[in-house]
Amino acid sequence: MRRFLWILIAGTVLFAGCSSDAVDVPLGPDGKPDPELVVGRDVWSQSCARCHGNDGGGGSGPRLSDGRVSESFSDPADMGQLILDGKGAMPSFSGKLSDNEVAAVVRYTLEVLG
Ligand code: HEC
Repeated sequence: MRRFLWILIAGTVLFAGCSSDAVDVPLGPDGKPDPELVVGRDVWSQSCARCHGNDGGGGSGPRLSDGRVSESFSDPADMGQLILDGKGAMPSFSGKLSDNEVAAVVRYTLEVLG
């Protein structure tokens, strides 16, 4: 019985480990993912997923997927500005992310998590 429990616990931990990955970038026509979106995915998992969820479905931060974020930000530059400025409980990423990283995570959020 004990052993069974341990296997169950180990399995749960492993499963949680796998599922904590951010959504993958789809492959382009050349069979490779867009490199800027790959950077965006890294930024997302390191800086955003803990509040907005791996798939953008929300957590302590609001849901961004299901078209929410493209509705709120018709101009992607506005979203970049929000990331740099921060808002309410969301910290400012100014000085923490480079311009390229901000542009990449904006694209990843809009195009992959959408
Ligand atoms: C500490 C938690 C936290 C982190 C980390 C965080 N956010 Fe947020 N985010 C929030 C909260 C809370 C709000 C809602 C702010 C408000 O409206 O008062 C928000 C709002 C947003 C919005 C606006 C949503 C809308 O429809 O108005 C976007 C876009 C966003 N976050 C993207 C990001 C991105 C991209 C990152 C990573 C670079 C990130 N957030 C990191 C907590 C977080």
